[in-house]
Parts: sequence; C-alpha cells; structure tokens
Amino acid sequence: MCAYLEQPEISPLAWYRDDSDENLYERHFTDPPRILTPQEVFEKSGVRLIKVQHCNSPIVQAKLREEGNYKTFDWLELSRETLPNYDERMKKLYDEHLHKDQEIRLITEGSGYFEIRDYENKWIRLHLKKSDLIQLPAGMYHRLTLDEQNYMKMLRLFSDSPQWEAVDRPNGDAEPSRFEYLQSIPSTTIE
Ligand code: NI
Repeated sequence: MCAYLEQPEISPLAWYRDDSDENLYERHFTDPPRILTPQEVFEKSGVRLIKVQHCNSPIVQAKLREEGNYKTFDWLELSRETLPNYDERMKKLYDEHLHKDQEIRLITEGSGYFEIRDYENKWIRLHLKKSDLIQLPAGMYHRLTLDEQNYMKMLRLFSDSPQWEAVDRPNGDAEPSRFEYLQSIPSTTIE
C-alpha cells in the first residue's frame, strides 16, 4: 500500500485534481485521491519529472545544460517582492496555454503547482519543489500557480533562443506544435 494514499495530507508529487478553481493554494485532491508516480505521469502525458541533487550548484546546472544541449537559460522568480506586475503575471501563468518549444524548468527554491493536461484532457496537478526538473513537450496545454509559500524560483532552459511566447487555448489548437504533440501520443493510451 502506498503511504501517500494512506496519508494524503502529506503532499505527494502528482495527482489528478478535482474540478474546483477555488483557493488554488489548496491541494485539490479528488475523493478518494488519485496519486500518480512520475512514471505514470509520463505514460499519461509525455511529461518527464527528474530529481536534480545539488540543484543550486553552478557545476550541476552547467552539466544539465550540456547534457540536454540547452543553449540558453534564464531565471524566473515568482514573488510579489521581485516580480514586476506580479498579479497580472500570475494570472497569465494560470491561463491554460502551450508553447512552440518544449518547456524545461528546474525549481531551485520554493514550490508551486504545474498543471498539465493528460492525453485524455484531464488535469494532472504536479507539486514541484526545490530540485524537481520538469520537461513539458512542445504543444501540450498546461498552467502554473503557487502554493501557500507564495514563492518559487526556477531556472528556465531553452534549446535555442528563449521562447516564452504562450498561446492560450483554444488558439493553440491551430499551432503546428499542437499537431505534432497530438501525433506523438502513443496509440496504446487511447481506448
Ligand atoms: Ni508555459
């Protein structure tokens, strides 16, 4: 028996979320909770989750960039104190959107919720904390919000020049990256 299922108040890494949009800081478990392992998240969405030990070490970060062939990077700090237009930016991050390129983020401080659509369009909530790296394929819908800590710092890695441009749903449906993502879905996952 998985300990997480017996003690859902201990925040696990990933689960199917309920349908409520009230108080986003809360966990939003379904009843009963449907917890997912990183492997299940990958099988259901194509999203990879990796633990990076010593994530604040410049050597570790340089190695990550080299191994992933990520040519550029920058930092994003989600904090009312340091992020200009905080409320507007946070609202935008929670609008369902996709990108033309993959999205790679290493959480180096704090924590927050990434929400991703699985292959069947259901929301999976990921509670990412320091040392978690997430790799979202291009063309998949997602959104982001913070937890009660109200703080998250991320290293953003890019294959080429930084591509922050977000395309909201449903406009993203017309993006070539969306077609490619849909075509990449393993046929075994569709009933
Ligand atoms: Ni995004």
